[in-house]
Amino acid sequence: MEIQKIKQRFGIIGNTTSLNRAIDIAVQVAPTDLSVLISGESGVGKEVFPKIIHQFSSRKHGTYIAVNCGAIPEGTIDSELFGHEKGSFTGAFDSRKGYFEVANGGTIFLDEVSELPLSTQVRLLRVLETGEFLKVGSSKVIKINVRVIAATNINILEAIQQSKFREDLYYRLNTVPIEIPPLRVRKEDTQLLFRKFASDFAERNRMPAVSLTEDAREILQSYRWPGNIRQLKNITEQISVIEENREIDGKILRKYLPDYYESKLPVVYDAIDQKTFASEREILYNILFDMKNDVNDLKKLVYEIMQKGAADVEIQQNNAKIINKLYQGAEPVVQENNKKFDLDHVKDENIQDTEEIIEESLSLQEKEKELIIKALNKHNGKRKYASDELGISERTLYRKIKEYDIK
Ligand SMILES: Nc1ncnc2c1ncn2[C@@H]1O[C@H](COP(=O)(O)OP(=O)(O)OP(=O)(O)O)[C@@H](O)[C@H]1O
Ligand SMILES: [Mg+2]
Repeated sequence: MEIQKIKQRFGIIGNTTSLNRAIDIAVQVAPTDLSVLISGESGVGKEVFPKIIHQFSSRKHGTYIAVNCGAIPEGTIDSELFGHEKGSFTGAFDSRKGYFEVANGGTIFLDEVSELPLSTQVRLLRVLETGEFLKVGSSKVIKINVRVIAATNINILEAIQQSKFREDLYYRLNTVPIEIPPLRVRKEDTQLLFRKFASDFAERNRMPAVSLTEDAREILQSYRWPGNIRQLKNITEQISVIEENREIDGKILRKYLPDYYESKLPVVYDAIDQKTFASEREILYNILFDMKNDVNDLKKLVYEIMQKGAADVEIQQNNAKIINKLYQGAEPVVQENNKKFDLDHVKDENIQDTEEIIEESLSLQEKEKELIIKALNKHNGKRKYASDELGISERTLYRKIKEYDIK
């Protein structure tokens, strides 16, 4: 079947080579029984790929089950996937078939596979290698024939390095890798997607579709789209609802891209290009962390100046690095005479505060806890919405609530 027809059938919009290539691999691998690992950032459109593979395989009349591994609590995941025997744990009043058994002869899609606990990873590896598993609380080996497709939006190699994911399982799952490219490298697709989402919305709500002016189209292409197609879809729908004028120019569009200006600020963060971060959140954490370090260095410097005076050679030497970093591109303040740092008039002020701030916690955990509490409060304790907002899975949130003992 031609790629265009597949796109039509599965509602895939876009025409970049990298997307077409991903679809092509899915179709090629479909008739085999090989495991496939689909990777790509959040919101790039991974979920349709296992469906394509299932539909183009000889299993298409068999069962297709999609399991979000991140949404199932750690305590019940083995039982959900592999089933359990009556009485195998408190509350197991009946024996139950797991998803693997139900999907026998078909396909199972393990979404967010990196969220599987290590003990479940061992069971999964065994199924992949032998087709065999044991129900929880049973010693009877069950043999099945299930095609496994997995997806992840995190960098699994990093998870392996941190001993959170088994390397042997990774190689077993990754027999055929399919990488879905982020939207920022599919620039031409942004227009097509916007138009499609706008016209779908207009049709559903019986109103004229919004369209973009030339400068708005350019913005659409140059924006980074950290939330990829999901974000573009949400923004198109928001604009369709809120804006009265159906022609959207650059100024209006920018209002809906909250970090548009920030991403253009000269506070360029060299490290971002050099490292590969697993997620946008990680980038933000790193920036915040480094900014906080800079602020603390500055506080320390101001404190020393207040103690010894800006002319102190030792202070100038010890702090040259931070000053150069912070005043990069500006005049070399520290080399100038002490006028600029003449803080004698504030010497007598209470420096207690400064000391206190220096000791302020830099702990990422504390910041994380704070954000979790904020998100939970905002959503009246609803974990589903809080986890969406935080950009983590519900199960990770559940784990963190326990870990931080959040009431
Ligand atoms: N090429 C596309 N054409 C049309 N809609 C798309 C396309 N790709 C993704 N979408 C839509 O974007 C949204 C996000 O896609 P999807 O749920 O597949 O993301 P994902 O890669 O699974 O993300 P996550 O890792 O966060 O689960 C869905 O509403 C999906 O229908
Ligand atoms: Mg998904």
